[in-house]
Amino acid sequence: MSMKTLDDLFVHFVRDIYYAEKQVLKTLPKMARKADSDNLKDAFEHHREETEGQIENLEKVFEILGLKARGVTCEAIDGILEEGKEIMEEATDADARDAGMIAAAQAVEHYEITRYGTLVAWAKRLGHTKAVPLLQANLDQEYAADRKLSDLAEGGLNKQAA
Ligand SMILES: [Fe+2]
Ligand SMILES: [Fe+2]
Repeated sequence: MSMKTLDDLFVHFVRDIYYAEKQVLKTLPKMARKADSDNLKDAFEHHREETEGQIENLEKVFEILGLKARGVTCEAIDGILEEGKEIMEEATDADARDAGMIAAAQAVEHYEITRYGTLVAWAKRLGHTKAVPLLQANLDQEYAADRKLSDLAEGGLNKQAA
């Protein structure tokens, strides 16, 4: 597709993050199953529910743009998720695996934060006023998810065991 104008790029990024969210939606249940810590398991399950809502928000953005909802392959998220999969499969120690999954999940959150941050700014600049709160809501959830993972990494993993 054409990426000549900011409008083109905006649409490309919406499709990119739509693809990314769908991949993340498929991956989070696997991560929840592999998590040893109950807190981490809950965090992954909670974010899976949020991700469903984020996908619905993106479908509304497509509607606002008058476009059919569809994704474009995003090699960045594929690479980040592939790395996470390797960690899940190869870490034999449960604590190491949880720590590795947190690191992998934070890489996903940071990717999403950078995309939604750009999309919010561009939606404002391009006058897609109705898309702004939908994209902002997703951005806020990604920030919250990232903070939660930081808390877990900093010792919240096994609060009940401490
Ligand atoms: Fe997301
Ligand atoms: Fe996320």
